[in-house]
Amino acid sequence: MSDQATDTHFDLIVIGGGPGGYAAALYGASAGLQVALVEMDKVGGTCLHRGCIPAKELLETAHVFRTVSHAGDFGVGTSAPTVNFSTTIARKQQVVDTLFTGLSGLLKHRKVELFNGIGTLQADRSVRVQGVDGEVAVLNGDAVVLASGSVPRTIPGFEVDGTVVLTSDEVFALQELPKRVAVIGGGAIGCEFASMMSDLGSEVTILEALPQILPGVDKDVVNVVRRSFKGRGIDVKVGTKVQGHTPNGNGTSIAIEGQDPLEVDAVVVSVGRRPLSESLGLDGTGVVVDGRGFVEVDEFCRTAVDGVWAIGDLIATPGLAHVGYAEAILVVKQLLGDEAIPVDYANVAWCIYCQPEVAFAGYSEQGAIEAGYEVVTSKHRWGGNSRALIIGDTEGVVKVIAEKRADGTAGRLLGVHMAGPWVTEQLGAGYLAVNWEASVDEIAHYIQPHPSLTETFGEAVLSLTGRSLNS
Ligand code: NAI
Repeated sequence: MSDQATDTHFDLIVIGGGPGGYAAALYGASAGLQVALVEMDKVGGTCLHRGCIPAKELLETAHVFRTVSHAGDFGVGTSAPTVNFSTTIARKQQVVDTLFTGLSGLLKHRKVELFNGIGTLQADRSVRVQGVDGEVAVLNGDAVVLASGSVPRTIPGFEVDGTVVLTSDEVFALQELPKRVAVIGGGAIGCEFASMMSDLGSEVTILEALPQILPGVDKDVVNVVRRSFKGRGIDVKVGTKVQGHTPNGNGTSIAIEGQDPLEVDAVVVSVGRRPLSESLGLDGTGVVVDGRGFVEVDEFCRTAVDGVWAIGDLIATPGLAHVGYAEAILVVKQLLGDEAIPVDYANVAWCIYCQPEVAFAGYSEQGAIEAGYEVVTSKHRWGGNSRALIIGDTEGVVKVIAEKRADGTAGRLLGVHMAGPWVTEQLGAGYLAVNWEASVDEIAHYIQPHPSLTETFGEAVLSLTGRSLNS
């Protein structure tokens, strides 16, 4: 990196090249802003290199494995499938590398100036870059966006060593799957890893502290996942308190309060992520960091310092790549003087890619009741859906939650929670309906293609009008 004098000036300086940061850079550059992007590793961040993309690629391997296992049901002859995990990992890397090359090219094409180093905010709002090549640059800009993301949380007694105790970061580098694995934490990451590893042959136990896995997801949907996990041999232990572990040569023995120790070859710790704010040098800048490490912002992602914004996993909003995208656009629109509408965090799309997939937007039934709504709900299973029968995957449920009007009929759609085949690709209609504050009558007016998986959402809404077709 060449020495950049203090007069280097940009319209926008972004620290952190993950989904939040690269979206701010790309969107800003597409609107004609001169943008600097500071990244200490590779652009793409956790999502591309250690998160969403590699996880979904490995889950797709599990999907292919299941499909081949059931090929005989369709009269297609195959021998029993086996997994060569190093090929799996190589394919995962190929997908990641292709996307990385594409993203790097796009940033270059949009003339985003990339600084490879650690960016810290200075008291005068300039950004100091300690380059990986040892050189230092000082950048000045009209606006600074902090987007340094998050790292896996760990728990006492489970020191990450990369061989026996792993986080999501280390799982993606494995060359072989452990035979027996404990997954601590049954949230999105835990359930995705448990599902993938079990389908590819590992013996999996989930150890969750709360009384339910997948917190925040509707109970009827969670029950579908639990039943499926049980049927596939995944042992889900809820309400468990892990106390530590003792390595024993081959693997380790996990101490669990009130239960027998659990002997495993590896432990995956997936107990959430924490914001990575300490690398930004925020002391003395006026930017406020809360006790958990999140940068404090208002609904427009403004920090306490004029001209400094924070987005993505660094702030206390849902830790999802697409939320980072939305926050990036929100900030850049303000820089451009456009109308900027805050993100509606209560209604964002959540997609969990375990088998069966889970997708939801808006309130669960329990969440709506806790928020003071009177609700009516409808649940439809996939067994009556022709496309689901054709593809041979009828496990799951679509549940629609609507506000109950004074006359007892169903009004506005409050939430759509689904488990089943390709629901992560089907959430769009429900997501839009909930966010558009559409009523059941309005949505029921629209027809779904036949035969298609989306008919089950259509049926669930239609039956809330008091009439129905196939149910
Ligand atoms: P999470 O917060 O979703 O779930 C962590 C789970 O660990 C919770 O159920 C919690 O009760 C449990 N837990 C915490 N401490 C524990 C302990 N000591 N013993 C046992 N259980 C314990 O966090 P997760 O799954 O690690 O995901 C992190 C972030 O990544 C989330 O913000 C999520 O939004 C995002 N993510 C989203 C995905 C998706 O939408 N498909 C996939 C992966 C991650």
